[in-house]
Amino acid sequence: MRMPKRQQCKALVEAIYIQFDASHDFEHVLRVEQNALAIAASYEDVDIETLQLAVYLHDVSDKKYAADTAALEQILKTLQLPVMQEQHVRHIIEAISFRGGNEIETQTLEAQIARDADRLDALGAIGIARAFAFGGAKGRKLYDDAEAARTEMTEDAYYGKPTATVTHFYEKLLTLQQHMCTEKGRALAKERHAFMKQFLTQLAKEREGLL
Ligand code: ADP
Ligand code: NI
Repeated sequence: MRMPKRQQCKALVEAIYIQFDASHDFEHVLRVEQNALAIAASYEDVDIETLQLAVYLHDVSDKKYAADTAALEQILKTLQLPVMQEQHVRHIIEAISFRGGNEIETQTLEAQIARDADRLDALGAIGIARAFAFGGAKGRKLYDDAEAARTEMTEDAYYGKPTATVTHFYEKLLTLQQHMCTEKGRALAKERHAFMKQFLTQLAKEREGLL
């Protein structure tokens, strides 16, 4: 008997995520899946299979990680999904992609859920851990005040190439909570946002020698 598509897909992507650093490993995919299922539980009629397939595949061809850009196409070819389902998976993946406020419009509930689920994993304690893992992998400094201040004042989320991890909070992470699509996603993002702000306040205090 053939493996169900979800299981097949999960196994195929796991092998790919092994090459990525800890900011973007298979655990990220599992957490996004968990977030997505938690948000989906508030709705009826969610196409869970399509949602899960898209979550598994959403980062396999991410250029930031010098990934194999053909991986997504190869896996889709192997899976042989019905045409409409494959199109839906592609739409969800496109919708997840962060473009500094210029994201494509989500056309389905599944796309909204997946986008929120991925954003949530960039927020809160896990978001902080991932950001520093990413910065570490790129050999970046922890913080650069001048750079962070410039970024905070800029309307455009990406003003250039950051050299320090804390800058990323101002250019992206602190902007995410305003762009959540679902009610549950918004509520979870609010809590995680507050935790990140608290982290930044504590970081500033410790650096100023007040503790
Ligand atoms: P996601 O998989 O959540 O969509 P990305 O692929 O954009 O996120 O990035 C992976 C992780 O690395 C995220 O947690 C993100 O916050 C972090 N990251 C991306 N760019 C930077 C950066 N310039 N500095 C620090 N962390 C970053
Ligand atoms: Ni992701």
